Amino acid sequence: MKKLFLTTIAIILCGTISRADEGMWIPALLQKNEAEMQAMGMKITADDIYSINHSSMKDAVVLFGGGCTGEIVSDQGLLLTNHHCGYGWIQKHSTVEHDYLTEGFWAMTPEEELACPGLTAIMLKNMVDVTEKILFNVTEETTDEERAKIVKENIKKLVEEMQKETEYEVSVESFYQGNQYFLMYNEVFKDVRMVGAPPSNIGKFGGDTDNWVWPRHTGDFSIFRIYKDGQPYKPDYHFTISLNGVEEGDFTFVFGYPARTNEYLPAVAVNQEANVVYPVVVDLRTQILDIYNKYQEKDAKVRIQYASKHAGLGNGWKKWMGVIEGIRNFKGIEKKQAFEEAYNNWCMQARNRMKYMHALRDFTPVYEEYEKYRMATTYLTEAGLSIELIDFAANFAKLADVTKDTPQEEIDELINDLRQETTAFFKDYYQPIDEEVAVAMLTAYRAAQPEDFRPEILNEIDTKFKGDVKSYVDYLFGKSILISEEKVVAILDSFKPSKAKKLAKDPAIIAVNSMMDFYVENVMPKSRECTNRINNLRRVYMEGQMKMIPEVYPERNLYPDANFTLRVTYGKVGGFKPKDAVTYRHFTTLDGIMQKENPDIYDYVVTERLRELYDTKDFGRYADKDGTMHVAFIAGNHTTGGNSGSPILNANGELLGLNFDRTWEGTMSDLIYDPSICKNISVDIRYVLFLIDKYAGCQRLIDEMTIAE
Ligand code: ARG
Ligand code: ASP
Repeated sequence: MKKLFLTTIAIILCGTISRADEGMWIPALLQKNEAEMQAMGMKITADDIYSINHSSMKDAVVLFGGGCTGEIVSDQGLLLTNHHCGYGWIQKHSTVEHDYLTEGFWAMTPEEELACPGLTAIMLKNMVDVTEKILFNVTEETTDEERAKIVKENIKKLVEEMQKETEYEVSVESFYQGNQYFLMYNEVFKDVRMVGAPPSNIGKFGGDTDNWVWPRHTGDFSIFRIYKDGQPYKPDYHFTISLNGVEEGDFTFVFGYPARTNEYLPAVAVNQEANVVYPVVVDLRTQILDIYNKYQEKDAKVRIQYASKHAGLGNGWKKWMGVIEGIRNFKGIEKKQAFEEAYNNWCMQARNRMKYMHALRDFTPVYEEYEKYRMATTYLTEAGLSIELIDFAANFAKLADVTKDTPQEEIDELINDLRQETTAFFKDYYQPIDEEVAVAMLTAYRAAQPEDFRPEILNEIDTKFKGDVKSYVDYLFGKSILISEEKVVAILDSFKPSKAKKLAKDPAIIAVNSMMDFYVENVMPKSRECTNRINNLRRVYMEGQMKMIPEVYPERNLYPDANFTLRVTYGKVGGFKPKDAVTYRHFTTLDGIMQKENPDIYDYVVTERLRELYDTKDFGRYADKDGTMHVAFIAGNHTTGGNSGSPILNANGELLGLNFDRTWEGTMSDLIYDPSICKNISVDIRYVLFLIDKYAGCQRLIDEMTIAE
């Protein structure tokens, strides 16, 4: 009775309080959110969004390229995603004569659409709760090891059985840290072609400088098309596009493939993440990026060579700085601790809750132990392997291990791979950068790791180089043949097993072997042991929270952490106050692009053509009713990596834009969500259409879309 009463209150509360919402909801269970979504302004039903009985919006959302989201916008399988999601493919198709990254690419006819072998689009067809089947035979008495074994076997059995009955790809995914399991049916499309992309100074406008930042002016979209049996794919559903734009307070929802979040971690874990690991990673990357910047500014060729590496390192670097600051300003650790106090109080109310209390308590010693191994891994990957020569040498370590007993076929395959890696490596390699990075990283690595717990090679800097990192680096780069493309190619051309021993003596291979051996022998086993224990504790702690939260915080709905499965999140359009005296409006316009324009700064170059359209105000039907061209907007949707390219939809389920980022102040949302500062950034669909239509003149694409005015 009491429970029923509480749930009724919860529904009443949800019905009256509409809030910018936290949560990444499982589409198959969206019924439980429907009332709240409608109270916030939604005019459609949960069934319109996800249904397995008739066509629904889920039939127009795909996992794009294994890491982003895309949405279908025509009955011909036309697909939109972000520019940064299509980037690799745009780059692959680019040559010196046709530099699509710089110039943009527009297939003016279907024949010009470019095949992208290896690119997939994956569409969810059905998902079924199979928790009982997977946890069959698991009891209170089952040990963690037994449980892991049983679960693994049950998954294997079920997948094999179900796969026989369907043309779709079947898999089982774990939710709530192994407390719930779903069987997923996916259709995999393997013929996805490139149709269009704006030039990078539109698609990546603002570059790394503006990345994660609001106000933002990036035209972050690219266009692809799904083909099936050689013909444009006819989807069961495609999104209608809205030209009405957004207003402050409008209801929106985002439908896509968020990759990973960790919202239910204990305070001790969040503390390790935000106050121990991230500061080190940020510090190491700051040093590397400073070195990149110094050389990139001096030399245009180096700028291009290191652009992608810079973007890769810079994305996480900037985000984690935001996380550290967000957790501090928002008092994330203190909030977790307060929650844990309430949790412990709840546990103490009944004997059978003791195991939940113990799970929370037991995190502390494991995390204490884990820290040493976690940092050793962090220094290996962030410092040791950030030295490009050492990372490159890792590829050759296998060749150096070849003996006369290794089958020739294996050697040939290895050499073949190494040839490709060699070409790719030297194309974008600039040795002065790498030498400077090596000095900085080895210095940091050596200083941070105790003498009795570091790879031998770091101690040799003391024993053989009098502790002088620079002279070791001089020796490494002076002696290793792996810094010369010519020499590497010569080795590959004339390789024989008898030459392996000599290769193994290369100082770069010695260095990487020393680091990897140390890791495999002294770090990995302990680290695995800790993460296994942590995962088991997380499962029990999650189970405890799933029981406690509905009782103690009945207004709080539970949702599982992101795990690369399809989710719905919803929230309202709106600006916010990121810090004292600063207020952000909810949208940006083309005026802002012209204000940022600077022909001398790579990230802020504006093309002649865009300026012309701006000057003549030739926005056509894509202008906002205020007469300006809106470029991007923010809303309170709970998104994360993988949500890039996701459709952001209005109350009628019409397409408003493409999600592509979050605001820096709220990047901690992967660990703790605060509706006052956690906002998602989307490019306005009207800007996208304006570019396709007015900028590129690719009218045929506009014609096949369904547009609501
Ligand atoms: N921050 C966004 C995300 O995490 C966009 C990254 C791509 N853009 C860039 N300038 N690096 O993926
Ligand atoms: N930019 C991210 C992505 O590529 C989205 C985010 O982290 O908000 O998926």
